Amino acid sequence: MSQKYVIGNYKLNPATQQDALTLAQNLTPSACVVGIAPSILHLSAIKSVLADGIALGAQDITHKSADVGAFTGDVSATQVKDMGANFTLVGHSERRQYHGETDEILSQKIAHAFHAGLSVVFCIGETKDDYDQKRTQQVLSAQLELLAPFAKQIPLDTDQTLPKLIIAYEPVWAIGTGLTPTLAEIECVHNFISETLSTLQIFAPILYGGSVNDQNATSFAQSPLIDGALVGGASLKTDSFAAIITAFS
Ligand code: 13P
Repeated sequence: MSQKYVIGNYKLNPATQQDALTLAQNLTPSACVVGIAPSILHLSAIKSVLADGIALGAQDITHKSADVGAFTGDVSATQVKDMGANFTLVGHSERRQYHGETDEILSQKIAHAFHAGLSVVFCIGETKDDYDQKRTQQVLSAQLELLAPFAKQIPLDTDQTLPKLIIAYEPVWAIGTGLTPTLAEIECVHNFISETLSTLQIFAPILYGGSVNDQNATSFAQSPLIDGALVGGASLKTDSFAAIITAFS
C-alpha cells in the first residue's frame, strides 16, 4: 500500500489553547502520516507537546512577504516555519470565499512556502453549482494551472515524511455539510487530478476532504486512488480522528 496521509484542519477552533493542547497531545504516530493545522496562535505551544513524527502546519500564510515587512496582522511562511511548522494549507475554499484569494495570491503563497522550506497542502474543489452543471473537471484543471511554474521545485521522488506538495480535493458543497460525493465520483475526480498533474510533470499525493468522519473513512481508505484525508470537524473529536487515522493506517 502506498503512503497515506491524514491531516486535521482545526479551522477557527478550539476557543482555548488548553483545549487545542489536549487534542494535540492525544495524537500518536501511526502507519499513515498524521498532521494537524491548528490556529497559528497555538502553533508554538502545540509544537512543544506534539509527539515526534506528527506533522504540524499553518492554515494559511501571507502572500505579502516570505519573511518580514510592514504588513499589519499578517503572518509569514518564515515565521510559521520558525514556530516549528512543516507545512501550510494554501487555497482552502474558506480562504478563497471569505478572503477573496485569487490564483495570483495563491501562487505567491506557494512560492513563499517553498522559499521558507514548508510543504504545501494545496486545496481545490468545485461549488455545488459547478457540480450540478458538470463543470467539476473544468474548475479543477483551472485551479491546478497555477502549479505549472512550480513543477521543477517539486521532486518526483521524496524520501521525506511530508512531500513538498500534497493536493487536497475538497468539494465546497461537501465541507461541513455531512454530504460527500460517492466513492466512484471521488475516484474519478482523483484520477482526473492525477492526469492533469502529470501533464504538468508534477506528482503529488491526492487527499480527499469534505465531511470525512469515522463512519465513511474506511471506504475512502480502501481506495488506491485516495491517498488520505483532510479532516475538518472530525479532527476536533479525539475518538473520531483516531478512528480515521486507523482507517488509513
Ligand atoms: P469538514 O471535515 O468539517 O467537512 O471540513 C473539511 C475541510 O474543510 C478540511 O479542510
